[in-house]
Amino acid sequence: MTTARITFDQAAHKVATRVTKMRSSAVRDLFAAAVRPDIISLSGGMPDVSLLPASAIRKATKAALEDQRAVALQYGSTDGRVATKQVFCDVLRDIGVRVKPDEVLITSGAQQALDLIARAFIDPGDIILAEGPTYLGALQAFSAYEPDIRCIELDSEGMRMDLLEEELKRIGKGNPRLKFCYVIPNFQNPAGVTMSMPRRKRLLELAEEYDFLVIEDDPYGRLRYEGGHMIPLKAMDEKVIYLGTISKMFAPGLRTGWIAAPKYVLAKINLVKQGGDLCGSAFDQVVVEHYFTDTPWQRTLQKFIKTYGQRRDAMLAALEEFFPPEATWTHPEGGFFLWITLPDYVNTDSMLAEALDAGVTFCPGTAFYPDGKTGKNCLRVNFSYESPENITEAIRRLALVIEDRLELYRAFLDAGVLKEKE
Ligand SMILES: Cc1ncc(COP(=O)(O)O)c(C=O)c1O
Repeated sequence: MTTARITFDQAAHKVATRVTKMRSSAVRDLFAAAVRPDIISLSGGMPDVSLLPASAIRKATKAALEDQRAVALQYGSTDGRVATKQVFCDVLRDIGVRVKPDEVLITSGAQQALDLIARAFIDPGDIILAEGPTYLGALQAFSAYEPDIRCIELDSEGMRMDLLEEELKRIGKGNPRLKFCYVIPNFQNPAGVTMSMPRRKRLLELAEEYDFLVIEDDPYGRLRYEGGHMIPLKAMDEKVIYLGTISKMFAPGLRTGWIAAPKYVLAKINLVKQGGDLCGSAFDQVVVEHYFTDTPWQRTLQKFIKTYGQRRDAMLAALEEFFPPEATWTHPEGGFFLWITLPDYVNTDSMLAEALDAGVTFCPGTAFYPDGKTGKNCLRVNFSYESPENITEAIRRLALVIEDRLELYRAFLDAGVLKEKE
């Protein structure tokens, strides 16, 4: 018998239809492109783990390898270790959310939580509401289950509730196809904006009125550089499904996140998780427990906040200094990103190649919309990872690329090839 190696192409006719519709993440593809040492990357969303104190990591991993080796190297329960859940209950209490360990389920990062929620709740054709733009990893997770994703435009106060209400009226009360509304209320990815308190309240009212679940994804909530703490949706309504993660406030390499939700929701999620991974990494969970109980993690968090705040300031200052007056951008009070809007004749998808030539990467706006078309004159830039000097240089390079585009347009206008606003 000959065993031929099956390449992906030879298996193409076997691939599920829903997979053929999937798009690879533009950001992941860019990670691959941005390996040239002269390129400054503003495209990713990585925390700077070099800020973590080595002693804390050593202490937490030593405890997992030595004191709790038997459990850390063993299978665990599908919903995660009770001690890890307790850690996250304590972390949540700090921000005003009161839940008990049996209202928490441990996941392999918030990304797995998004997939589990999609798997548990979405049938093909179901309606999902999200901010526009929204987190592209959520779009990828949801799309696998073939929903009808409707994006509601946001502004500097988050998702626009007037537009949400209009969309809900179109969908109609009691529509069984309407499943949930997915929001990132704090320092939204990709837009950097924070949902105002009146809008938080209105969202919860509309959820009651139109009967949909609210998914609150909050990876950046603890990373605030200015302004006061905003009460999480979960603290205002216990029915909210809250997603947390250690990725941005500790380390994404330890794939640990959590879902805080009513027990009846967690029971469904537990069911689908069993078939997905049996259980998450017990080793990661034990390390996380020790990090959050035996090390000064709050002090480390302050270090993250100080450093990222300085990097954000460097980016805002560089934008002011180098960017043309035609560009506008958001002012994030925390988190990792800001969102730039250019005149509508600029296409940031095609601008990316020129940016790479100029030694800088960003994430084109279309990646953050389900249709892959909206947001073509927008881009997301990250300020958590590079030094302030590199950020300044990257924004200077990007401004030159944009200026070239604008000049080209002006030349077409002068030559009469284009009319104003064309
Ligand atoms: C809004 C949002 N949700 C979820 C995730 C996934 O995070 P995790 O590393 O916990 O899977 C990210 C990561 O960038 C994110 O920005």
